[in-house]
Amino acid sequence: MLVFLFFAGIFLLIAALYILVPPFFGPPSVPTRHDRIRKALQLAKLQPNEVLYDLGAGDGRVLVIAAKEFGAQAVGVEIGPVQCAISWGNAFRNGIGSKVKVEMANFYHTNLGRADVVFAYLTSDQAGRLQEKLKEELKKGARVVTISFNLPDWEPAYLDRENLIFLYEK
Ligand SMILES: C[S@@+](CC[C@H](N)C(=O)[O-])C[C@H]1O[C@@H](n2cnc3c(N)ncnc32)[C@H](O)[C@@H]1O
Repeated sequence: MLVFLFFAGIFLLIAALYILVPPFFGPPSVPTRHDRIRKALQLAKLQPNEVLYDLGAGDGRVLVIAAKEFGAQAVGVEIGPVQCAISWGNAFRNGIGSKVKVEMANFYHTNLGRADVVFAYLTSDQAGRLQEKLKEELKKGARVVTISFNLPDWEPAYLDRENLIFLYEK
């Protein structure tokens, strides 16, 4: 009985961390569909060995697709400890551990100067602060793809209306 209670407690703690941590910082952990991720990375023309940042990596699916299918170096910045563990697990399970890095951090405190492509599936609540950071830190030629939200002061280079993907170029 004690063993059961112990494991049930651990399970509840993990579930609580998974659900409760993200809303303190931004949107909940809702993953992007795989085909939408592929479309976004194609629009951004992600090249082998370019550096992709996923701001809020969730379960790491963007990192896996970027590294495995596009040959990129993928960096995920994620605030949720459980999401980070799942991302790491997904990267290793897919055999691309050496091409993927997951940082447990608030992405507002991460410098994006190395990024060739930034992927963000967030909400318009983050857009204002994020666009200032991107303007300041991104190098010339870097591309940004946002899913379901736009950067209010930036003119998109392309808008995929069907999938609601915005492409920006610095
Ligand atoms: C909508 S999910 C997107 C997950 C993944 N990028 C995808 O497209 O499948 C947003 C993720 O961002 C994370 N997040 C929100 N605000 C954050 C912040 N300030 N720093 C780091 N991660 C954050 C949440 O924990 C959540 O996992």
